[in-house]
Amino acid sequence: MKRYGQWALVTGATSGIGRALARQLAAQGMNVVAVARTQGRLDELATELRAKPGVEVRALALDVSTRQGIEALIAAVADLEIGVLIPCAAFESKGYFVETSQQSHEQLLDMDCYGPMRLAHHFGGLMATRRKGAILFVSSLSGWAGQPYMAHYGAAKAYVLSLGEALHHEMKDKGVDVTVLSPGWTDTPMSAGTGIDFASMGMAVMQPEDVASAGLARLGRGQNAVPGFRNQLMVLMMTRWTPRAWLGAMFRMMMKRAGAVPAPA
Ligand SMILES: NC(=O)c1ccc[n+]([C@@H]2O[C@H](COP(=O)([O-])OP(=O)(O)OC[C@H]3O[C@@H](n4cnc5c(N)ncnc54)[C@H](OP(=O)(O)O)[C@@H]3O)[C@@H](O)[C@H]2O)c1
Repeated sequence: MKRYGQWALVTGATSGIGRALARQLAAQGMNVVAVARTQGRLDELATELRAKPGVEVRALALDVSTRQGIEALIAAVADLEIGVLIPCAAFESKGYFVETSQQSHEQLLDMDCYGPMRLAHHFGGLMATRRKGAILFVSSLSGWAGQPYMAHYGAAKAYVLSLGEALHHEMKDKGVDVTVLSPGWTDTPMSAGTGIDFASMGMAVMQPEDVASAGLARLGRGQNAVPGFRNQLMVLMMTRWTPRAWLGAMFRMMMKRAGAVPAPA
């Protein structure tokens, strides 16, 4: 990691995949800018990471679902050279698209699409001038095909996937490595909070540590990181083996069976 610089910036760093990424980066000797909203959990993480020899931490309590929060983040690290950027925090939604409020859809767009785009544009630009650095985008298997009943979350993750895949190639001209991490079902508060029975969809749960290490291992090596054999099979199924129209129908059925559809009022 240190070939990219001294500092890594991780949003959503206090839980799940983001926390595992922050821990693994610190274990490799990187200094970490950790971003999340809850001060107490940031303080706990900062104390833990600072215990590693030579590791500095800047813990920032900011809301990256707002454009002000994103700008405040950029301003708060203006004195640091960010060598690795991981915009990991995301907002997930499920249920009928038309029954979810417009406000909630806008928040999801800002958090899951605008934030990663703005951060990648800003820090990617600085990396390009230094001709070194890396960006690990965090998409999802949900971004690889339309997801009925998680339609907007899937669409947002497809945006991240497409942006990251394109930048993987484009940023080679600028000396910057870009990879897209697409986790499947991972044991975190976010997946638990959906109430969806992912096991009934044939998915196997992974631990955030394994997802994080798979993502970091692919930086500088490949366009995509899809952790886990079953998830890789799922990607093959979505990209090679099944016509797109069938995929939508199949996911509609699977998501209904998995409890993603709210019972009629
Ligand atoms: N878990 C899965 O099964 C799964 C599968 C595929 C993809 N992913 C993707 O992996 C990434 C991480 O997901 P996760 O499941 O590891 O999440 P998680 O465990 O729920 O952690 C979310 C993190 O983001 C922070 N956060 C939430 N809202 C925020 C906001 N508005 N501003 C700043 N920080 C915020 C949380 O801290 P605070 O609440 O204190 O802010 C926490 O640190 C996401 O991009 C997700 O889409 C997850």
